[in-house]
Amino acid sequence: MNKSYWNKYYSKKLGIKEQTSFAIHVLNMISTGDAILELGCGNGRDSFFFADHGIQVYALDQSEIVINQIKGDNINPRFICKDLLSINENFAYEINHGYARFVLHALNKAEAEKAIAIMSMILPINGYFFSESRSIKSSLYGKGHALEQDIYETDHKRRFLRKNDLIHQLESYGFTIENVIESDGLAIYQDDDPVVIRISARKSSNIQ
Ligand SMILES: C[S@@+](CC[C@H](N)C(=O)[O-])C[C@H]1O[C@@H](n2cnc3c(N)ncnc32)[C@H](O)[C@@H]1O
Repeated sequence: MNKSYWNKYYSKKLGIKEQTSFAIHVLNMISTGDAILELGCGNGRDSFFFADHGIQVYALDQSEIVINQIKGDNINPRFICKDLLSINENFAYEINHGYARFVLHALNKAEAEKAIAIMSMILPINGYFFSESRSIKSSLYGKGHALEQDIYETDHKRRFLRKNDLIHQLESYGFTIENVIESDGLAIYQDDDPVVIRISARKSSNIQ
């Protein structure tokens, strides 16, 4: 929803480099040698963290401004400038898991459903999809300019997620929910302590 916003943002600053608490949580659920696809990696702070811990990372973001700054000659993380919605069945890399932090809320409803469908298409059985995103219980919900349902624009647009909708959507694409938590205290940044939905979904069946 916000490509020009993110390009402008990353041309001014790259943002904090420290890994998120979500990445630390996820690292405990995967194994050294696994390969993970990160959607919407931003400045790559979680990608570098996973790579430093023996995970092969394929990390993509739509913003050429950020990817050009962090890419280098790295093969791990391997950064790719790409719209995640353009991933298709010819996706070139073999992965065990998918990861999206603060990304599903950066997509409108149809796009987020497509992202989940893509994950379901490219993940192997038993692969995890990990996601953390802002919930409708977040204090920013309702602030700014109301657009579509649950989408509000302040400095940029965010679509706040409903926990049960997300669970049902993942289940309908062949995922089994192993862990879900909707809480504040998980993604604190400066004076922002949003209620987020943190979810681990394991792919349990193929959808035709
Ligand atoms: C809120 S930032 C989160 C960055 C990073 N995951 C983190 O937690 O620090 C959202 C990121 O998703 C990227 N993004 C949004 N829509 C995208 C799309 N359709 N394809 C690829 N990246 C996208 C944006 O460019 C931005 O870098």
